[in-house]
Amino acid sequence: MAREQFSKIAYKTLQQGKSIAGLAHKELSSRIMNFILPDNEISNFNLDKNLLIQIQNSMELLREEDWRDAERNIYPIKLLFDEPWLRYLTQYPKIWLDMPNIWNRRRKENYEDLPKSVDKDNYPRYYLRNFHHQTDGYLSDFSASIYDLQVEILFNGTADAMRRRIIKPIKEGLINFSDRKKSSINIIDVATGSGRTLKQLRGAFPNEKIKGIDLSGSYLKEASRYISDLDGDLIELIMGNAEELPFENDSIQAISCVYLFHELPRTIREKVLKEFFRVLEKNGTLVIADSIQISDSPEFIQIMEDFYKTFHEPFYCDYIKDDINSKIKEVGFNNVKSSSFFMTKVWSAIK
Ligand SMILES: C[S@@+](CC[C@H](N)C(=O)[O-])C[C@H]1O[C@@H](n2cnc3c(N)ncnc32)[C@H](O)[C@@H]1O
Repeated sequence: MAREQFSKIAYKTLQQGKSIAGLAHKELSSRIMNFILPDNEISNFNLDKNLLIQIQNSMELLREEDWRDAERNIYPIKLLFDEPWLRYLTQYPKIWLDMPNIWNRRRKENYEDLPKSVDKDNYPRYYLRNFHHQTDGYLSDFSASIYDLQVEILFNGTADAMRRRIIKPIKEGLINFSDRKKSSINIIDVATGSGRTLKQLRGAFPNEKIKGIDLSGSYLKEASRYISDLDGDLIELIMGNAEELPFENDSIQAISCVYLFHELPRTIREKVLKEFFRVLEKNGTLVIADSIQISDSPEFIQIMEDFYKTFHEPFYCDYIKDDINSKIKEVGFNNVKSSSFFMTKVWSAIK
């Protein structure tokens, strides 16, 4: 018991430390930018005291939920302490060195600044841009090499705790297939990025077949490096489009999809939902995690507005108002549920 209490305190201290580091970085970088480029003034995320208290409370609830799920063995406690410090250490100077490029891109409203070598015919139009003013968009090894830490800073160190919210609904959904061998269960993570969600999934599902799909070869290479030393069966990485998944009808038992939907135009969101429905087997589970929305987190509307004003996120403004619950039902899913955890909303549904 004393050991558990000690681990819980250690976990919360680690999370608070990451939160302070993330806030300090954001404050310092926006001050420097506003000093160097005063005409480029961006939101300093000047949040009033009440909102700051709500943010703190919401983060605390997330940490509690994360700890409780680990205590209930939904995933191992060690996942909560699994921080790639060495990776962060190599990524952090690159983030600073890249910052002037990001400021410039923002100032010039240059959103299609992609590497010349990119064959544009291979990607959908909406994808060929610098989301978040990111250097090379999603289309270079450099971008992939700093993405994780950028997200970690954006969410004040809570990114993995929010990603882990997908695990409980997947576990609950997979009870529908509990008569099968675990090694015959297919879980796919769509728009897997640089592998953070895959690592959480492998921790919780050591024996199931896990596959990660993404449009970016560079992000998949980064994912491959990140997950290569994980225990359990090899995780397959596939370059592919969420709109046309490379799987047979009714062949998958669980799908996760983290932080993709806010970067898709509305019609594509609907297309992707249909595609999820097609590949899932009857009684299979869909779990989507993405940004909170206005309907259920109105207290954070200022943060949502600051986000799309500060970063290049052309589909976000529409996303935060989109009735995704209804769309999931419209394509044929049942038991549609949703809940929000700090800055992330999680939907689950059964085919
Ligand atoms: C915001 S990142 C999220 C990455 C990861 N899921 C995470 O939790 O950090 C969005 C990812 O979606 C991928 N992506 C965007 N559109 C896609 C599509 N149509 N099909 C597959 N992947 C896509 C991008 O390459 C990028 O890796």
